[in-house]
Amino acid sequence: MILLKVTGIETYYGKIQALKGVSLEVEQGKIVTILGANGAGKTTTMKSIIGLLTPKQGKVEFQGQNITGLRPDQLLKKGIALVPEGRAILSSMTVLENLEMGAYHRNDKEIGKDIEEVMQHFPILKERKEQLGGTLSGGQQQMLAIARAILSRPKLLLLDEPSMGLAPLIVADIFKIIKQIKNDGTTVLLVEQNAKQALKIADYGYVLETGKVIIEGKADELLQDSRIVEAYLGKRTS
Ligand SMILES: Nc1ncnc2c1ncn2[C@@H]1O[C@H](COP(=O)(O)OP(=O)(O)O)[C@@H](O)[C@H]1O
Ligand SMILES: [Mg+2]
Repeated sequence: MILLKVTGIETYYGKIQALKGVSLEVEQGKIVTILGANGAGKTTTMKSIIGLLTPKQGKVEFQGQNITGLRPDQLLKKGIALVPEGRAILSSMTVLENLEMGAYHRNDKEIGKDIEEVMQHFPILKERKEQLGGTLSGGQQQMLAIARAILSRPKLLLLDEPSMGLAPLIVADIFKIIKQIKNDGTTVLLVEQNAKQALKIADYGYVLETGKVIIEGKADELLQDSRIVEAYLGKRTS
């Protein structure tokens, strides 16, 4: 089943056209990755999906329903959560409070149980649950941001460059966690500059260049694709 379908979106910053007709599909239960150099339009695509920006043309559909132009809080209720570039955790709140924020729109009785479960997945967060978010390392903050998003119980998790600025060992941990999230049943749309690692865990990939999809295909095929190898796999292979 196609969970997310983006068709021909064109998104502008004022008069500057950042997306020139981007189309992509995310099948339920998969990890789909969007690759591309700095400035290609990856973040703009994520923001256009989650409603932080509204495309001027084109359509975003989730579970067959047109969601173009809905707000992020409305989309969270429908089951789409974003971990933005740069994480955006609340640095003056404790780890536990940050996690509770992730579930703020829920009113079921399983929030406490879910927080316990998430802390089993991320033992470091359990250890530091009374500490302020701002005192965590970069990698720990990224884990907190991901854990918080999971607590909204999303059907689709959007991750914008989760490995950015992290040390190679931590990057490996983050990719393992993303794989685990998929195995637990959450569909993932992953934006990365770390093409090799992203393609290794992904099922399908798209390459963006100046606001357009220039290449798409199954992840294992993209890993062998000479255009990708030359442009993206020569560097940042950590
Ligand atoms: N707030 C903004 N105002 C004007 N232009 C922007 C803004 N944010 C991004 N852009 C431009 O839109 C294009 C796509 O940016 P972005 O989606 O952030 O790329 P990526 O995430 O792939 O690095 C770039 O040319 C960038 O300079
Ligand atoms: Mg970006």
